[in-house]
Order: sequence, then C-alpha cells, then structure tokens
Amino acid sequence: MGFYHESITVNDFREILRTTEAQLIQADIFCGHGYESPHDEAVALVLSAAGLAMATEVDILDETYPQDAWSRLQQFITRRTTRREPTAYILGQGWLGPLAFKVDNRALIPRSPLMSVIESGFTPWWQGDDPRVIVDLCCGGGSLGLLAAWAFPESQVLLLDIDPLALDLAAENRALHQLTNAHCQQADLLRPLAPSSIDIIIANPPYVDVEELSNLPAEYAYEPVLALEAGLDGLDLVHQLMQQACHVLNTDGLLFLEVGNAWVALEQHYPRFPFTWLALECGGHGVCVLSKADLMTLFSETSTVV
Ligand SMILES: C[S@@+](CC[C@H](N)C(=O)[O-])C[C@H]1O[C@@H](n2cnc3c(N)ncnc32)[C@H](O)[C@@H]1O
Repeated sequence: MGFYHESITVNDFREILRTTEAQLIQADIFCGHGYESPHDEAVALVLSAAGLAMATEVDILDETYPQDAWSRLQQFITRRTTRREPTAYILGQGWLGPLAFKVDNRALIPRSPLMSVIESGFTPWWQGDDPRVIVDLCCGGGSLGLLAAWAFPESQVLLLDIDPLALDLAAENRALHQLTNAHCQQADLLRPLAPSSIDIIIANPPYVDVEELSNLPAEYAYEPVLALEAGLDGLDLVHQLMQQACHVLNTDGLLFLEVGNAWVALEQHYPRFPFTWLALECGGHGVCVLSKADLMTLFSETSTVV
C-alpha cells in the first residue's frame, strides 16, 4: 500500500509525521545542514508542506493532515530521500539562533557554531562598550553578520564575501530583517579594509581539505564548492586571512576564526603557539579566538620559526 493511499484512515499530523520520519530514517539521510535528526527534518517538511510555521503548537498532532498538502509533502520527501537535497534548500529557509534566513544554493546553509560566540556577546573576550565595527568575513548568505547586526544594533557590521551570488543572497536577508546597520561588500578576504579600523572579525572561511571533500555525504554537492574547498590541508585562505586580520584589527581587536577539522593542521603549522579553542554552547568544534596581540606574536614568531 502506498504511503498516501486513500484507504489510510489514520491521517492525522501524528501519523504523517511518524511515517515521514520513518521514510527519512530508512533512506539513511545525512543530517548536518541545520537539522540535528530525521525527526527534526520530518517536522519541518510536514509542517511546511501544510503551509504551517515551525513554531506551530503540538496540539496540532491530533488534527487531520490537510489533503492538499499530501502531494507537496510527497515531492519534498522524494527530493530529500532520492535526490539527497538538504531540507533547508527544499524549503528555501534556514535558521541561525532566533533568526530565519532565506536560503538557496547561492550560499552555504547556515549552521556555523560561531553563532554561540555572537549570542554570548563575545564575552568574556570582548570587554566594555559594544564593538563599533564588526566584520563577518566570508559571509555567504549573511547569517552570522546579520545575527551580529541584530544582537548589536549600535554596531556597524560589514558582510564581506568574494562571491557576488552569495552577497546578493546576503543583501536579500539584510532587507528581510531590515538591518540598516549591516552593509554588504564584495571583497577578497580583508583587502579593502583600512589598518586598525575593526574591533571584531568573525571568520567562517572555506576549510574542507581535499580528502574530506571527496568523502562528503551527497547532500554537500548542493552547496557551492567555493564555500567548502580549501586545498590540501584546509588552510588555503587561513594564513593570509590571519595576517590581514593582524593589520586591520584595532589594538583591542579580536578574530574569532572557524576552521572545523582543519584545527589539527593549524596547530601543526604553528606548533609553538598556544591556540585558544572555544567550548561552544551549541556544539561544534574548531573555533578559536585570537587577539591582535596574539596575531602579532604569532607572525613575528613564525617568521623565524616556521
Ligand atoms: C563556509 S562559507 C561561509 C558561510 C557563511 N558563514 C554562512 O553561514 O552562510 C565560506 C564563504 O567564503 C567565501 N569565500 C571563498 N573565498 C573567499 C575569499 N578569498 N574572500 C572572501 N570570501 C571568500 C565563499 O564564497 C563562501 O561564501
């Protein structure tokens, strides 16, 4: 019997949700694009197909699933299970913390653990007044920088990316949230910025090394390769980025840098430097904080050591 056969009598949200989740589990989907489990993805697909918000109350579970949503849900499930399209791209929406963003394959799906750093107000590393200027380097669709602009309305936030398509999406998300303190600019890393002009840089560059890239689950093929690929050790952009950050940060400035699994290669490259790797509330790993002073030490040391 097909999943949506007319003769199914139990067709409330609870049953549709249960069956959808079972299909996702059976297809062995990979969850790593903004959802933590097949259950969470099933909730999103079932509600969205019925035109309902993610915040819908659980009371709905015993109500009848709208018949006009069935074929839409079936299409969603086929795209997710057979074609391996990530749920966020199917729905055109992703979340970072409290904010929903427009999402499509012009940029990576929002999921950076740097979110926790912004939500904690950059404490305990940043002290005193709100930062004047924050940079979201390699901003993609803009989720991190826009979350910072939302959390720090008195700060100016620059969203930088080399890819004009990603920047278009970031601009659409800026308009969606009406964040007039956020500004999008095309840039190769930090090149356009003046010396000693920035308080905080949050950087989520591409950091997937060649070997890891060739072994990624099929879902990643929907994301722009420019957002993932970072050479033999995942650090293609990182050294240059750190050197430029040293130049553009203010005296008290901070770089919050996400390098994921490439943290091992970074430690190996600068063996004498005591990196501060952050324990993040929302999970994730490979995020460090570097002060301007750290960066100055690092580059004066490594110019002689490495
Ligand atoms: C890991 S993704 C960032 C995703 C983003 N944080 C988000 O949540 O949407 C890396 C981004 O770096 C950008 N990028 C790659 N090379 C760059 C460069 N040389 N300068 C600036 N941005 C670059 C890519 O276009 C991509 O959007």
